[in-house]
Amino acid sequence: MSNNYLDILEKLNKKSQKSLSDENLLWICGLIEKYRPRRILEVGVSTGGSTAVYLNCINKLNLDCKLISVDSSEVAFYKEGKPLIGSEVYELSAHLNLENFELKTGKLIPEIVDELGVFDMIILDTVHFLPGEVLDVLCLKNNVSKNTVLVLDDINIESRYPNLYKENLKGVSCNLLILSSLKGELLFPNVEFPEIGGIVLSGDDFDEERLLLCLCHKWNSDILEFKEKYFSKIKKLYGKEFLEKLEVIYEKYKFSNFNEEGR
Ligand SMILES: C[S@@+](CC[C@H](N)C(=O)[O-])C[C@H]1O[C@@H](n2cnc3c(N)ncnc32)[C@H](O)[C@@H]1O
Repeated sequence: MSNNYLDILEKLNKKSQKSLSDENLLWICGLIEKYRPRRILEVGVSTGGSTAVYLNCINKLNLDCKLISVDSSEVAFYKEGKPLIGSEVYELSAHLNLENFELKTGKLIPEIVDELGVFDMIILDTVHFLPGEVLDVLCLKNNVSKNTVLVLDDINIESRYPNLYKENLKGVSCNLLILSSLKGELLFPNVEFPEIGGIVLSGDDFDEERLLLCLCHKWNSDILEFKEKYFSKIKKLYGKEFLEKLEVIYEKYKFSNFNEEGR
């Protein structure tokens, strides 16, 4: 790596609460160096430490690149002090160029997808368990093109945290399934067991039927309260018949991870 893009985080008053490891973050910066995207979408921002590193990277590379960051929450509830989503970016604003940066909080991808445009790079770091990112990928059909680089974190979430191993085996890591189902060149850090991966899409959009197959495993309950937002957007994008297939899968798998009450 020619540059230390993490140095921006040393300017924070406290240690960054970012979730991505330094190594994985630098790997993504390496992709930004290599592919020189003009438009990046980040989904899953949390306190914004990783976002600040992307902005630092874009700035140091002198790229003409817009970063749009989206998080469904307003607050990073599970982080110390419950900071606002993206708060670390704003704490570092004197050291970052925020002209080409937009943060959208409290929004799900299906609610805003029509106003986002097409991206050269998309970094998804949200739920990791089915249906999780699969539904977002489906909703981003018109926001990708040939050669869009799709990055997915926590591709093997079940095995990632030894203390949660049994609990996490109740769910299915969706991000590895997404990588396995799409056509394109696969990208991984050069380590024994990568936690993150990517793909350079070789088509203009997704193979939605293969993405549907990804959903035929145990689901977490995360989607239940957001179901209508995702499903109505997916119906608009892929049609009634596709939604009917999705509804069947939903009925079969929605509670498969939980007891009879669905909890
Ligand atoms: C693992 S954290 C992201 C970490 C961040 N990339 C980092 O490196 O610090 C997951 C974030 O995704 C957000 N999230 C969860 N589900 C989401 C969804 N469906 N759409 C957008 N954001 C979501 C959560 O609010 C949370 O802030």
